[in-house]
Amino acid sequence: MENKKLHIALLFGGNSSEHDVSKRSAHNIYDALDKEKYEVSVFMFTKKGFLLGNEASMRIFDGENEDKVVAEVTKDVDFSNPLANIQNLSEVKDVDVFYPVIHGNMGEDGTVQGLFRLLNKPWIGSGIASSAVSFDKDLTKKLLTINGIRNTKYVLVTPDNQKEYPYAKIVEELGETVFVKPARQGSSVGIHKVTNEQEYNEALQDGFKYDFKILVEEAIKNPREVECSVLGNLDIKASKLGAISIPGSDDWYDYNNKFVDASGVVFEMPINLPEKLTKEIQQMSLDAFRALDNRGLARMDFLVDENDVPYFGEVNTLPGFTNISLYPQLWEVSGINYSDLIDQLIQLAIDEFKANEEIHYDFVELGTEKVGKKIIGE
Ligand SMILES: Nc1ncnc2c1ncn2[C@@H]1O[C@H](COP(=O)(O)OP(=O)(O)O)[C@@H](O)[C@H]1O
Ligand SMILES: [Mg+2]
Repeated sequence: MENKKLHIALLFGGNSSEHDVSKRSAHNIYDALDKEKYEVSVFMFTKKGFLLGNEASMRIFDGENEDKVVAEVTKDVDFSNPLANIQNLSEVKDVDVFYPVIHGNMGEDGTVQGLFRLLNKPWIGSGIASSAVSFDKDLTKKLLTINGIRNTKYVLVTPDNQKEYPYAKIVEELGETVFVKPARQGSSVGIHKVTNEQEYNEALQDGFKYDFKILVEEAIKNPREVECSVLGNLDIKASKLGAISIPGSDDWYDYNNKFVDASGVVFEMPINLPEKLTKEIQQMSLDAFRALDNRGLARMDFLVDENDVPYFGEVNTLPGFTNISLYPQLWEVSGINYSDLIDQLIQLAIDEFKANEEIHYDFVELGTEKVGKKIIGE
């Protein structure tokens, strides 16, 4: 019998500030996929959410100017048609496993996961609700707190309750220095470290450009930023730890340090922390993965204070995946190389799909003959 290759579709791009990182991640994954085992297609979401077909996506993948290709292939598209953005969707009909390599909005927030669910195909990473919750810093913190996982104190400011949270009230509850963050963003976009009333008011105003839910969070003083990679579905494991620091400054890991000039940023992988702290962070990572009902992969980020107390920072369910990104590098130093890691993620996606299939397709016939009694009045 002919052994058919497994058809993998890499989805990349999207409308977050990590559009280009996504392209690089997808490139590295593409190169690492064993073409003897896999047939690989690529599909790019443009910044406006249009799903390009494999051919146009491949041209961009191969280095053609993105804006030029997008303008060319969308010039006759009727965008007044609500289905315009997914008009190339029929091209994915032979795909066996979807690999969303899209960081941030659309990729990480449950949107494309809903599409895969509708297409009834396996995909790498967390499910719809888990992705959406993990992308929302407010909902994430609420679930962590319910599950006893330490995270920083915060208040949620919305247009409705903003008047109840003048800076004086914030100082009383959380201290003078706080971080102001939109709940559903990433890449440090819209995040401000503030230390006075004017900065606070300006930060809220800026935050509301990105979301109507703003977290105002107690600041950890001189934190060490530590990361842990988690791999698996229900049977999960935690990697060795990594750390990000910006030596010689009291900078935080802002947009500039991430994407504009990373020359002052030092990555240490693995980082040797005291054993008790290492174990605690790994355990918190596994606990958070379960609390958030994650699947496949997630990178857990921590802030460790001056007394070696770790606070859960945030979760990334589709972390950067270039061959020098933290998630795969932490596995590399923990004994799983880049292409084996990808093989494992594909298998986990298939396993998860099979496990769910047994649940989703069992229809329960609901009887209609016996109905409850209605008591109206006496
Ligand atoms: N409570 C906090 N105390 C100290 N630093 C923080 C705090 N929250 C965020 N930061 C800094 O801001 C950066 C970005 O915040 P994070 O919550 O990770 O958002 P993003 O999703 O944009 O990466 C962190 O990497 C850290 O440098
Ligand atoms: Mg972060």
